[in-house]
Amino acid sequence: MRHLINILDLSVGEIDELIARADDIMARPDAYSEVCRGKILATLFFEPSTRTRLSFESAMLSLGGSVLGFSEAASSSAAKGESVSDTLEVVSSYCDIIAMRHPKEGAPLVGCAHSSVPVINAGDGGHYHPTQTLTDLLTIRRETGRFDGLTIGLCGDLKFGRTVHSLIAAMSRYKGVRFVLISPDELKLPSFIKQEYIKERGIEYSQCSSLDEVMGEVDILYMTRVQRERFFNEEDYLRLKDSYILDAEKMKAAKRDMIVMHPLPRVNEISTAVDSDPRACYFRQAKYGRYIRMALIMKMLGVDRAKGE
Ligand code: NCD
Repeated sequence: MRHLINILDLSVGEIDELIARADDIMARPDAYSEVCRGKILATLFFEPSTRTRLSFESAMLSLGGSVLGFSEAASSSAAKGESVSDTLEVVSSYCDIIAMRHPKEGAPLVGCAHSSVPVINAGDGGHYHPTQTLTDLLTIRRETGRFDGLTIGLCGDLKFGRTVHSLIAAMSRYKGVRFVLISPDELKLPSFIKQEYIKERGIEYSQCSSLDEVMGEVDILYMTRVQRERFFNEEDYLRLKDSYILDAEKMKAAKRDMIVMHPLPRVNEISTAVDSDPRACYFRQAKYGRYIRMALIMKMLGVDRAKGE
């Protein structure tokens, strides 16, 4: 039995297969509408979510399966002091697959050791978020047509932004990729991510605090929200929250075929005036999340055929 805790749990070849499957699901959704009939997905969300939880649920329902779960720790026995291990021990006997989000780094890894069904990490604290990365990879492939040779600007909260950490890990496996890390000093990429996925792999990167300076050189601009819930004090958050605001004026300096991505939710970091720019693809990105999660659920449940295949 396999779990998905870190994006690198999947090989490059498996990611290609998931993307091909997601493309096929988008092209002919009816062929997939019954393939997981009788299967149950549990979504255990100990932390708030809109897209991740609902796209997981929508994905399972679109495959003909069923869903159960909770959307906040307060409505689960965690509020009574139950451990993650005990919760997983029990819930895994009620379902066939689990998607779990938790504020503590490593909680899904602990949980999967106590689960009798596959566990998917749907975000663990400021650590990793592999299914957002699958969504991001599908977006990059569909919007730019390639993975190799891309210059990727990552902007905002690179310290606590788990989607950034997983995306860097994933992109570090492709040829000719270059990272441009744009953040205030206090929100720089953690050294373990930089060391393991950039330096040790000999990947080219640069670091700066000005978005304007690098606007014209990136093929992808991945904007992120300052992660308020991970700050120790509100003052620091207030000081840093508006460090970057992408607006129509800044977009003028960008390449004509550059794409703007954002895992969402957006707070202030992208002006709504950018939404109508064809290079803004964050809402399409959110939509792709449903299809790549359908592909992932199928794979993890061992369902490898659409209707008629
Ligand atoms: C992200 C997350 O939860 O890490 N959201 C998401 O899953 N799309 C990004 C964020 O919350 O800023």
